[in-house]
Amino acid sequence: MRKNEEWKKKVAYQIYPRSFMDSNGDGTGDLKGITSKLDYLKDLGVDYVWICPVYASPMDDGGYDISDYYSINPMFGTMEDMDELLAEAKKRGIRIIMDLVLNHCSDEHVWFKRALADPDCEEASYFWFRRTDDGNPPNNWRSMFGGSAWEQVPDGRWYLHLFSKKQPDLNWENPKLREKLYEMIRWWLDKGLGGFRIDAITHIKKEPTLASLPPDGPDGMVGCFAPTRNYPGIGDLLTELRENTFDRYDCITVAEAAGVPYDQLGDYIGENGYFSTLFDFTYSELYNHGHTWHTCKKAWEWPISLLRDKMFASQLETQKIGFGAVYFENHDYPRACEKFIPHEYQSPLTQKMLGTLFFFLRGIPFIYQGEELGMTNTVFESIDDVDDISTKNHYRISLADGLTPEEAIKAVNRYSRDNGRVPFPWGPGKNGGFTTGKPWMKPHPRYLEFNAADEAKDPGSVLNYYKKMVALRKSEYPGAQLTLGDIAPLLLDYPDIIAYKRIKDGREVAVVCSFSPCPLSIKADFAPGEVFIANYEKPFEKSGENLVLPPFSAFVCEMTEKC
Ligand code: NOJ
Repeated sequence: MRKNEEWKKKVAYQIYPRSFMDSNGDGTGDLKGITSKLDYLKDLGVDYVWICPVYASPMDDGGYDISDYYSINPMFGTMEDMDELLAEAKKRGIRIIMDLVLNHCSDEHVWFKRALADPDCEEASYFWFRRTDDGNPPNNWRSMFGGSAWEQVPDGRWYLHLFSKKQPDLNWENPKLREKLYEMIRWWLDKGLGGFRIDAITHIKKEPTLASLPPDGPDGMVGCFAPTRNYPGIGDLLTELRENTFDRYDCITVAEAAGVPYDQLGDYIGENGYFSTLFDFTYSELYNHGHTWHTCKKAWEWPISLLRDKMFASQLETQKIGFGAVYFENHDYPRACEKFIPHEYQSPLTQKMLGTLFFFLRGIPFIYQGEELGMTNTVFESIDDVDDISTKNHYRISLADGLTPEEAIKAVNRYSRDNGRVPFPWGPGKNGGFTTGKPWMKPHPRYLEFNAADEAKDPGSVLNYYKKMVALRKSEYPGAQLTLGDIAPLLLDYPDIIAYKRIKDGREVAVVCSFSPCPLSIKADFAPGEVFIANYEKPFEKSGENLVLPPFSAFVCEMTEKC
């Protein structure tokens, strides 16, 4: 695993392969499509590309249900296409990060098929099978996608699935299974991968008695976080995983590690941590109130200072022991503007402000496809426009709560994961240039407003702003400060501002972002020097002792002492 600092200066980009670029006109993005767009990524300045799962899969959960870890889903191409992608990426100095799903596989994996056919076979012990006498599931745990976390098979046994019933959990207590997984990981790393993003990894250790817990909802069930997320003893498994795989290669590992308390961060990403870095989710779902989306809060129904406080808590705790992975969007969330900016203010200006805020935090930034174009949420007219299993579950809950389909689809439009999974708009042509065929999901209706070809030509576009941000991180000054520098919050007296400074070698650089729709007069305890990037030509005016910021101003500047 990489012990040097180089990776900390890099920029990463996340691809949802089904929706990135279709090379053969079948309506679905594929590996050859990604290869054909490597120059776009190179031009943007990207060093690492994380690709969501492309393994063989029945696609019950967007490929996070793997039926063969050693082969490529024909929908995405072949192993030769994968090898070609790796080779072409390497030529451009880009390293590919694959998704690694180890908590569960697919019920169509040969291990599970054998386990179903013969309860006494070795593969049966790779899963969590239980029998009960009363015809009820072994416990009252609720799966992440709704309903019981147990499914019964024809011979009466039940198996555990923390996610969909087509994603049986793997039994990490079994050393034979673990060795099979390590072997597979090494096989992929031998191909020269840059590393892995590791899915749902904090769930691999389960509370051993699998006992029921007090229900937390009217369904009599309980969310399975307490007994299956970062459960004591997980450290031994993660150390063994690292030693048998990542430690032997020049690669980075980015853990999807929800639920790691800050006092355990060192175990995860400290000097001898299990992973290079991790995604912290403490500030991703601040809108989440209640059991489903229609009870969630919209942008500005919760204070932006909450985002600031949670984000800084995460940054400062991480700074004590390691280096984070920062993101504002990914394939599991609606577009960031939906969470933070009311519709009437969503614009290239506010998109640049949000980008500035996250891009210069301390950590390796992950740009999610389309974020660099300033994409907003899409429009789902009915649930038939949706593919995502989790969205369908939330829609069902809304209907069960008494909402009409029209009301329920409103919540889907705000929070569905499919908002970020629409075809990537490459240009103003048919289907945004994503496919010559019929796209598997409806293109974004506003792709004429944001698409890569038009934005590349417009110096004021969000795309060109992102290119500038990437270049700034890569510059000597202030790049060193903006990548490796320490972070400290600034301007905490202003609830509508999120600002921080990055400090290195005695030089300080400020990042200031206003969420105010009105001009804001602030008293800063520093004098702004050179402005390195801003979403306005003049991101502030001096007025006596004060700086007056126009609405949603964002800028990165040198800090000089006030005289
Ligand atoms: C996290 C992934 O990001 C998400 O898309 C998936 O549904 C779950 N893990 C289950 O693998």
